[in-house]
Amino acid sequence: MADIKANDSTYIANTYARFPLQIVKGKGAVAYDETGKKYIDLGAGIAVNSFGYADDFWQEAVIAQVRALQHTSNLYYTEPCVKLAKMLCERAGMCRVFFSNSGAEANECAIKTARRYSFLKYGEGRHTIITLKNSFHGRTITTLAATGQDSFHTEFGPFTEGFVYATPGDIPELHRLTDENACAAIMIETIQGEGGVNELPADYIAEIVKLGKEKDILIIVDEVQTGNGRTGELYSFMHYGFTPDIVSTAKGLAGGLPLGATMLGEKVKDTLTPGSHGSTFGGNPVCCAGAVSVLERIDDAFLADVRKKSDYIRAQLEGAPGVVSVSGRGLMLGIECTRPAKEVIADCLAGGVLVLSAKTKVRLLPPLSIGFDELAEAIAILKEALAK
Ligand SMILES: Cc1ncc(COP(=O)(O)O)c(C=O)c1O
Repeated sequence: MADIKANDSTYIANTYARFPLQIVKGKGAVAYDETGKKYIDLGAGIAVNSFGYADDFWQEAVIAQVRALQHTSNLYYTEPCVKLAKMLCERAGMCRVFFSNSGAEANECAIKTARRYSFLKYGEGRHTIITLKNSFHGRTITTLAATGQDSFHTEFGPFTEGFVYATPGDIPELHRLTDENACAAIMIETIQGEGGVNELPADYIAEIVKLGKEKDILIIVDEVQTGNGRTGELYSFMHYGFTPDIVSTAKGLAGGLPLGATMLGEKVKDTLTPGSHGSTFGGNPVCCAGAVSVLERIDDAFLADVRKKSDYIRAQLEGAPGVVSVSGRGLMLGIECTRPAKEVIADCLAGGVLVLSAKTKVRLLPPLSIGFDELAEAIAILKEALAK
């Protein structure tokens, strides 16, 4: 561990404040460090390992694909990406998919698609995209610009122009912004994840959808964190009874392999044409085979189970000592606590439980497949840390 730490700090760009933990292997919701100490993981690699570590079914699908074909260019057809695109479209009510490798790239494609749609239909200048204050959409120059947090808008400028930021829940301001700007799209996370696990008010979402329809402003839902079963529906927009024009997702989609997907609805299904966008690795057959094995299992019964686990966690935590409130949906939960989140996280780590933070909250994003026994064991340790 000492060697790894020293070499990490010498040779790896200094962008992450790592915890003093080296994970060497895992199975299901359990990770092990190099000494064999066990940790129940309520973070899942930040909502990525949908079925936990080294899931048998997922491994089989991925390994079979590695043996058959690890990569070819997008100049040729491959089966896994077509199969996955069909599944995504049928399950999400969308028409076509563009595959990339990450959440930021999935959002880049969403933004490019919205701007091209508007350009082809209305000409130059109608390109503004309204995003929300406190949002998070990625780390590229454009997705940083889309992120509605001033702290991300320094030192790397100039940023991509054409984003304005709305206050979540403020309907009159939303009307003003759509009146004052030539808008191509409104982009939202239904639950702001990095922003502190804050759910948007349902009436605000309904107003966005209404305005979008009235003014032909595209609705983009960033489901990078909320997608793929995380909130107890396959995609979080399904809680609110509407279908967006564009949906971006990544993280949990391929169960631990890098894959981004931008799903295109009826209005924009033909907006992207040959040469207008592309990716070398996007739609990689191994990642897509992993994703098919994930999506295949996220059926209604599985989603009902995710909601049950969520109810269990809430029942355990709401009103418990040290807990101010619990926010979020499904297995994407934020805990406002009386102790600093950092201290709670450190105590959990020492006690063998991995949890995350989001702003001032402790954030839980366990594998969707976590068993009730493991969940009970981890929540008991978390409760002790919260109550200290
Ligand atoms: C809502 C949302 N959008 C986009 C991103 C960026 O994803 P990636 O890190 O895969 O580029 C994240 C990552 O946390 C996210 O939570």
